Amino acid sequence: MSADDFALTLQEVAVRVATGAGRLIHDERPADVEVAATKTSPVDVVTKMDLASEELIRAELARLRPEDGLLGEEGGLRSGTSGLTWVVDPIDGTVNYLYGVAGYAVSIAVVAGQPTPQAWQVLAGCVMDPKHDLVYSAARGHGAQVTDGGVTRPLQGPADVPLARALVGTGFGYLPGRRAAQARVLSGLLPRIRDIRRLGSAALDLCALADGLLDAYYERGLQPWDQAAGVLIAQEAGAVVTGLHGLGASEELVVGAAPGLHRALTELLGRLGASSDDR
Ligand code: IPD
Ligand code: CA
Repeated sequence: MSADDFALTLQEVAVRVATGAGRLIHDERPADVEVAATKTSPVDVVTKMDLASEELIRAELARLRPEDGLLGEEGGLRSGTSGLTWVVDPIDGTVNYLYGVAGYAVSIAVVAGQPTPQAWQVLAGCVMDPKHDLVYSAARGHGAQVTDGGVTRPLQGPADVPLARALVGTGFGYLPGRRAAQARVLSGLLPRIRDIRRLGSAALDLCALADGLLDAYYERGLQPWDQAAGVLIAQEAGAVVTGLHGLGASEELVVGAAPGLHRALTELLGRLGASSDDR
């Protein structure tokens, strides 16, 4: 099989597994979603459905791709022997899910190399929004697409608008110190743009960017599973997605937009100290 066919096969696996897990969390969402645990702070929750979704994804990938590793938000790293690792967020937008607010998704990507954004090459990925029946996916070098209610169309990326006209998505971490620093950056940014959106799922923010529903997106503190699939989808749709100072997208900062806006936004975020130490 050629490298091209291989990437497409991996995309199909990502779509299949993410769709199954997306249906599970949507169709089986209890009226009262139960919190199973808290993580980095009392407002950073894991629900029983996060655990059920990751269990299903682990079982499916073990069956379909037994030699690959898996890094999941809830269960951590299981090493493989193939050099590929699946990077899994069983529910991105868990707080939306807890409250029954739209804007949660399953995010699954497969990466070559060490499963960290600084070292990996993302080969394929899928973000599945079950509440709206949207399946976003991409394979490296093959563009990005969305299947909306059964109809598939290519994702064309955001328009290159001036900073002052930009609708910018972002998100906030769960730790008070980080949030205070993020609020300071936001107060410098907000007067200079059209407006801000906080949708509550980084994976869906990046897909909205890929679909031109946001002009730009930035966030500090994203974990590997929050960004792996979404960054590939946005890049394959034509967005520039990086960190600051010539670095790649990582936990430190993810900034995405069309090229001209990306330049203006990264320059401003740098001046506002968006990737400065804030813990
Ligand atoms: C969170 C969401 C949110 C982002 C946070 C993430 P989770 O992921 O993606 O939009 O702002 O940084 O932690 O906790 O819902 O998987
Ligand atoms: Ca999650």
